[in-house]
Amino acid sequence: MAEPFNPFPIYGYFGPSYFCNRQREKENIISALRNGRNITLYAPRRIGKTGLIHHVFHHLDKKWNCVYLDVQEAFSFKDFTNALLAAVLNSVSKNNSVLKKFQEWILTLRPVMSANPHSGSLQLEIDFASDAQQRTTVKEALRLLDSFGPGVIALDEFQQINAWDTDSISIEGWLRSEVQQLKNIRFIFSGSQFHLLSEMFNSAKRPFYASTQAFALGKINASDYITFIQQHFKDNRLKIGKEEISQILSWADGNTYNIQLLCNRVFSKTKKETNREVIDESILEIYAENKLSYLALSTSMSRYQWRVLTAIAQQGKVYQITSKDFITTYDLGSSASVLRALEFLTSRELVYQYLDDAGKPFYEIYDIILMRWLQKK
Ligand SMILES: Nc1ncnc2c1ncn2[C@@H]1O[C@H](COP(=O)(O)OP(=O)(O)OP(=O)(O)O)[C@@H](O)[C@H]1O
Ligand SMILES: [Mg+2]
Repeated sequence: MAEPFNPFPIYGYFGPSYFCNRQREKENIISALRNGRNITLYAPRRIGKTGLIHHVFHHLDKKWNCVYLDVQEAFSFKDFTNALLAAVLNSVSKNNSVLKKFQEWILTLRPVMSANPHSGSLQLEIDFASDAQQRTTVKEALRLLDSFGPGVIALDEFQQINAWDTDSISIEGWLRSEVQQLKNIRFIFSGSQFHLLSEMFNSAKRPFYASTQAFALGKINASDYITFIQQHFKDNRLKIGKEEISQILSWADGNTYNIQLLCNRVFSKTKKETNREVIDESILEIYAENKLSYLALSTSMSRYQWRVLTAIAQQGKVYQITSKDFITTYDLGSSASVLRALEFLTSRELVYQYLDDAGKPFYEIYDIILMRWLQKK
């Protein structure tokens, strides 16, 4: 596995040394897969779902064929079919005898093949005549993979299939019945749009109802992240104090991507020992890089919607958005207008509803960097 240039990578998976904790989550998922249970993995954005999927793949026994597919990149059922076939092909490419069988079958479909210039992985395009032909092809690919022994297919951002220009419920129903017929293949369905994914798996009207084990992925324990950060600095003959790490974790609000992003900067700027100034300077750099997109965001909504967004940011966590206290503190007018603005902000995924440890719901800005930027205004 390639080494990252900085021990705090912000893209991709570089192996267990650069991955903090998730021990229990990894073991629970592996145990579910080994015991024949499919999984739904829920988490807000950038908490580490995709990373965890690759971490699980890394720890599964070599005999498992591990297929990863980002459904968000498939804008239609046809894209999905092509991407799934390519993902299976890339996964089995490590095993010569299996690869040969899969290649022989796929060549009968006359694909146009190419290599992705960035990752080097194989891409393919088959010109399907109909939806029915695509369904038959997916079915055959799954059956073939199933015949190769244990395997796992991760369909990341699976809720995206609802956005296709086809009858997605009928696709869900068909896929569910295909999934059920496989003996050796397990599935991980994951996504960050909780309401969409939860509707698919928890509504009695939907085909996937009660068919998977749910995993909600939370923030990484702070004391584990402190040890992880300190160790990486130490391995590079650098020092960072607990107080400085706490400053990083609290700015990032425990969000994995933001912690990595800030640690990446701070690490690159540290000469021998880091301090508060280095951290502040790194934060300012991050704000400066995002400023233009935040200004564009402000012009993409009404002034009132922007004011409500700013008020939520300044409050941090908002438990009662229509309370007199919140409305008067930020001078927001009527509760009906606040609710309308909130509906807009949640539909654009700028604001998210979370549950606290006691199960009480609250609203918070999705993008913590945007939240911090609005807080300092
Ligand atoms: N346990 C971890 N230790 C260190 N870095 C991690 C860990 N988990 C995730 N990361 C890093 O944090 C960033 C965000 O993680 P990831 O992409 O897995 O999140 P995600 O929940 O899939 O996000 P999205 O909602 O955008 O798909 C990535 O750069 C990833 O490498
Ligand atoms: Mg992801």
